[in-house]
Amino acid sequence: MATYYPEPSRTFSEYLLIPNLTEKHCIPGNVNLSTPLVKYERGETPAISLNIPFSSAVMQAVSDHEMATALARCGGISFIYCSQPIEEQAEMVRKVKGYKAGFVASRSNLTPDHSLQDILDLKQKTGHSTVAVTDDGTPKGKLLGIVTSRDYRTSRDLLDKPIRDFMTPFSSLIYGTSGITLSEANDLIWSHKLNCLPIVDERQNLEYLVFRKDYDAHKENPLELLDENKSYIVGAGINTKDYEERVPALVEAGVDVLVIDSSDGYSEWQRETLQFVKSNFDVKIGAGNVVDREGFMYLVESGADFVKVGVGGGSICITREQKGIGRGQASALIEIVETRDRYFAETGVYIPICSDGGIVHDYHITLALAMGADFVMMGRYFARFDESPTPKLKVGSRFVKEYWAEGSNRARNWQRYDMGGKQNLMFEEGVDSYVPYAGSLQENLDKTISKIKSTMCNCGASSIEELHHKARITVVSATSLVEGGAHDVILKENSLSGE
Ligand code: IMP
Repeated sequence: MATYYPEPSRTFSEYLLIPNLTEKHCIPGNVNLSTPLVKYERGETPAISLNIPFSSAVMQAVSDHEMATALARCGGISFIYCSQPIEEQAEMVRKVKGYKAGFVASRSNLTPDHSLQDILDLKQKTGHSTVAVTDDGTPKGKLLGIVTSRDYRTSRDLLDKPIRDFMTPFSSLIYGTSGITLSEANDLIWSHKLNCLPIVDERQNLEYLVFRKDYDAHKENPLELLDENKSYIVGAGINTKDYEERVPALVEAGVDVLVIDSSDGYSEWQRETLQFVKSNFDVKIGAGNVVDREGFMYLVESGADFVKVGVGGGSICITREQKGIGRGQASALIEIVETRDRYFAETGVYIPICSDGGIVHDYHITLALAMGADFVMMGRYFARFDESPTPKLKVGSRFVKEYWAEGSNRARNWQRYDMGGKQNLMFEEGVDSYVPYAGSLQENLDKTISKIKSTMCNCGASSIEELHHKARITVVSATSLVEGGAHDVILKENSLSGE
């Protein structure tokens, strides 16, 4: 006979936190969100900790090198997607590790033969008002000039006017040369009242742009997640098939931590992958996903440095519908945290837990942490921002970004083409979708973090560890769910818009 669980499988929305006494020192400004990323022994410091408990999902539509640098700048970590050829993934890792804070590769580039219309189109697409003009229109081509919005007037200039006629030519530009430090670049920016300083090599090829606003931002990012060489910390996903080739390439590129990406991590393939990595490389590696104590212990005993929890809860995931497998994220987390805590008490080894998928509201993050997760992994949340790899589109009257599942045909095609096959999968485990465009990562993170900190203060906790111990959590009834939203009033916004 099958084994039956006495309790139903529950999600975050079925729980609420009960406030504890808030002592006077417990204010958001005093809340520390740093959290371990990899296992450590009692009394030791973890080899890698995050400054905020956020990681971005191992997904094509979420975690490339741009997202990884942006998130590390804010104190979290991205795991660069592995559904791409090994060399391309390694190149993304290299870009993050080679990134020098404040120096950015130019993202908007044209040639002198392009027109004013091309400038306007590019600006509309990227939102950048500074365009580098290079001989071949690439970010590393020979720099011939710069165009900013001060160089043209759309009311007066013809739209087919070639860029060469109105750009600021190289001969009139202030620029820096290879090897310049950020503080030297900043001195040039200030003494010449520039918004942007191009950096070129000895052959006049463009290397980077340094923006005044980025320099200020750099100074404003005290939580940046850096290694001992002051490079950003970056993670990468791997699979259980090509790890013997993929892992060496990623390690060579400088990756800090790996994670095995699978919708079902309770498998002998994961054990073999963990053992291969542990016996051949000095790199940290997480595993998953699992939803119960047996799966968790299997991965811990196989050597995982952290464990990812969650099957079927992702916003784009249809695993539960397609295969009838999975578990409510809250139930999975609660059982695994209990097992982890017992393991810690018995062995003195603390295994960080990542709650992966199914975060809909910001408070779900706080609940996941309160239930004992050390950090969360999110896809949908990050896919909405400027920094995610997908283009911003206008659908109807609203801006959206594309977001597709790793188990969708769209994501898996890279591999099928590689193998020479073009037929679709037998069935998909995820969908292709849009998410509402939400602006910049930093702005949204700031808002989410202030909500988390504020709730933690309500719970009397000024660190995640304290929250783990102090949180009091209750199940909500279906009726009290209604009480949680605005109710029995006529909302002004809706009544005005006639909705
Ligand atoms: P979200 O934050 O709710 O959008 O969930 C993101 C998570 O969904 C990822 O980190 C993965 O664990 C999971 N996921 C991604 N693609 C698929 C899929 O095709 N099927 C099932 N789960 C997926």
